Amino acid sequence: MASFLHARAALLPICLSLACGSDGETADLADDGTDGTDGADDDGSVGTGDTTGDGSSGAAPTSGITWHEHIAPLILPSCAGCHRDGGIAPFSFESYEGTQPLAEAIVAAVESGAMPPFAASETADCEPKHGWKDDLRLSEDDKQMLRDWANDGAPEGDPSLAAEVPAVPQTTLQDPDQSLRMAGSTTIEGTTDRFVCYSLDPGLTEDAFIEAIQVVPGNDKIVHHVLIYVDESGDTAELADEDGAFDCSGGALGGALVGAWAPGAVPNRMPADAGMQIPAGARLVMNVHYHPTGVGPEVDEATGIDIVWTEERPFLRHG
Ligand code: HEC
Repeated sequence: MASFLHARAALLPICLSLACGSDGETADLADDGTDGTDGADDDGSVGTGDTTGDGSSGAAPTSGITWHEHIAPLILPSCAGCHRDGGIAPFSFESYEGTQPLAEAIVAAVESGAMPPFAASETADCEPKHGWKDDLRLSEDDKQMLRDWANDGAPEGDPSLAAEVPAVPQTTLQDPDQSLRMAGSTTIEGTTDRFVCYSLDPGLTEDAFIEAIQVVPGNDKIVHHVLIYVDESGDTAELADEDGAFDCSGGALGGALVGAWAPGAVPNRMPADAGMQIPAGARLVMNVHYHPTGVGPEVDEATGIDIVWTEERPFLRHG
C-alpha cells in the first residue's frame, strides 16, 4: 500500500506537494517506508524534489516503482509475447536480471512508439468505434511509470510483494480442430524474395465457420509473412503441383482474406457471436512471402494453419 502511494506521489508530484503543505496525513504517508529522504518531505519540498530530481542527488525522493510490484505486470503482457525465451525478439523480459540493464532502451523504444510494434492508430479520419483488438500499446501513465523506474536505476523490489502478472499473449492456438500443413518442401536461397502459394484442402462437405485461426511458420528464418485466402471454387487445386504449391505474387488472390500472420502475431479468435463462413468444397490458399537469409539455402517443409471450426452459425448459437 505504502509503495502504491509513493507511485502515485511520483505520478502526481504537484497535487501531492500541495496536499503536503496543508495535510499532515499526506506527510505521514510520505514518511511511510522511505529512508533518510523524509526530511525533504517534511519541509514541504517534495514537489520541487520530484520535478527537478534526476536521480543523481541522494535527497531526491524515489518513485517507489519496482520490477516485482509494477513493471513485470505492466510490460510482460505487452512485450513478452515476443520478448521471451525462444521468442522472436532479441532479448527476454521474463527475468529482472535480463530486463534491468535494458531499462533506458525500453523507455526510449516505448516513448518513440517503436515498441510495442503496433501500426494501427486513431486519427481524425479514422476513430474506430470499438477500439483495436489485441492492442498492446501502453498508456501515458504506463510510460510515465517506466520512465520513473528507469530514472531510479530500475530497482528490483521485494519478490515477496510481487504483483500477479496478467497472462502473456500466446502465439500458438490452443486445441485446434484441424492442422493443415504444406505437403512438400520449398527451398529458399539466393537474395531474391519469393512468394509461394499452397492450396490446402480442409475437406469441408458442408459450410463451416472459422472461430479461430493461426498460421504456424515452418521455418521462421525465412517465413516473412503469410496471408490466407478462401478459394471458393477449389480451382487452385489445378494450378498447384502434386504438393499443392504454385508460384504466386504477393497480391490478393481474389477470395476473401481470412487470416494474416507476421512474426509475433497472436491467433485471431472471433468474438463469440461471429465466425468466418467457408463454403463446402472450398480450399484455403496460404500465400507465403519468403525472405532468404542471404547466407545459404533454407528449407521450409512445415508451414501451415491451425483452425478451430464450428458448423453452427455462431450468431444463432450465441443468440
Ligand atoms: C510483436 C513482437 C514484439 C513485441 C510485442 C514487442 N517487441 Fe520489442 N522488439 C521486437 C523485435 C523483433 C525487436 C528487434 C528489432 C530489430 O532488431 O530491428 C525488438 C526490439 C526491442 C528493443 C531494442 C531497441 C529497438 O527499438 O529495436 C527494445 C528496447 C524493445 N524491443 C522493447 C519492447 C517493449 C518495452 C515492448 C512492450 C512494451 C516490446 N518491445 C514489445 C519485437 C517485439
